[in-house]
Amino acid sequence: LKENLALPVGTTLDRFIMRKQEDFPYATGELSQLLRDIALAAKIVNRAINHAGLTDIGGAYGKQNVQGEDQQKLDVVANIRFIRALRNGGEVCAIISEEEEDVIHTGNNNGKYIVAIDPLDGSSNIDVNVSIGTIFSIYRRVSELGTEATMDDFFQKGTEQVAAGYVIYGSSTMLVYTTGNGVNGFTYETSLGEFFLSHPNITTPQNGSIYSVNEGGFNHFPESIKHYVELCRVRNYAARYIGSLVADFHRNLLKGGIYLYPNTLKSPGGKLRLLYECNALAFLVEQAGGKASDGRQRILEIQPSELHQRCTLYIGSKDMVNEVENLLVARD
Ligand code: AHG
Ligand code: MN
Ligand code: MN
Ligand code: MN
Repeated sequence: LKENLALPVGTTLDRFIMRKQEDFPYATGELSQLLRDIALAAKIVNRAINHAGLTDIGGAYGKQNVQGEDQQKLDVVANIRFIRALRNGGEVCAIISEEEEDVIHTGNNNGKYIVAIDPLDGSSNIDVNVSIGTIFSIYRRVSELGTEATMDDFFQKGTEQVAAGYVIYGSSTMLVYTTGNGVNGFTYETSLGEFFLSHPNITTPQNGSIYSVNEGGFNHFPESIKHYVELCRVRNYAARYIGSLVADFHRNLLKGGIYLYPNTLKSPGGKLRLLYECNALAFLVEQAGGKASDGRQRILEIQPSELHQRCTLYIGSKDMVNEVENLLVARD
C-alpha cells in the first residue's frame, strides 16, 4: 500500500520530488533529476531577471526568432540557461524551444526524455517590470534509446506528457508542476536559494468571474467570442489581462476565470504555440479540475504536425470554457 504522500507546506522542492518519485509512471529517478535541473535553471534565470534593470540585460537582442518576433536579450539568456541545464543533466535527448527553429539534440542519446520549452514567456513585459514566466512539457521519447530523437518524439499529443509546469517570476517566484497526480506550487525563498511547497494540491474553481483576453483585437474576434466577451461585460466580470500567459493563467488557476486567445486578424490560427505553451497549461489545468480547449477539441488531443504550431486557446474554469465551446458550436 502506498504511503499517503501529503507532504506539509514548507517541504523543499528537492525533498518533495524525491518523495513523490514513486508516483511517477516510470519511477527510475531520471524524471526527478530532470525536474531538479529545470528548477536549477529557473533559479539562475530568476537571478538574471532580478538584475535586469541593473545589468545590460534588458531590451532587444537585435534578432528575430522563427516566429518573426523580436527576441529580447532575456529570451536568449533564458534559452541558453535552460538548454545548458538540460544538456548537462543528461536525462534529455532533445529539446524544442520557442527560440530555436529546429530540434536541439543534446548529444545524450541515452536520455529517455524530450522537453518542449518556452524559456521566457511574456517577453514584452520584461522591460516594464511585470510578471513573466517559463513553460515546460516533458515527454518520454518514443524513438529507440541510443539513437537521435526523431520528429515523432515531438509530435506526441499533449495527453502523453509525463510532467509539465511553469515558473512565474512575479511578486514572488514560484514553480508549479504536475506529474499527473495533481498540481503543486512551490515558492522561491531567495536568501536560501530554495523552492518550498506553498500551494499543495492546487484545485481551480469550477466557475469564475474573471475573463482575460486582449480586447484590443475585439473587432476581429469570431462572432461567438465577441458575444462571450459582451456577456462577461454584462455580468460585470473583472477584466484582467497581464499579457504574460503564465501570469494570466496562474491568477485564473487560483481564483477561477477564463483566458481566451481566439483567432484574430494578426494571428488567424491563434497566436499561442501548442507544443511549448498550450499543452503544458492544458495538462496543469485539467489536473486542477479545469478545462482547456481550442474551441472544438481538447487541447491535449490535438495531433501536432509542426514544431511551432499555433492554436486558439480557451482555458480555465470548466463551466466558463464549456460556455465558450457551446457558443462556438452554436454561432460560428
Ligand atoms: P512569448 O513572450 O513567449 O512570445 O509569449 C507571448 C504570448 C503570451 O505570453 C501572452 O499571453 C501573449 O503572447 C500576449 O499576446 P498579445 O500581446 O497579442 O495579447
Ligand atoms: Mn516570443
Ligand atoms: Mn510564451
Ligand atoms: Mn517566450
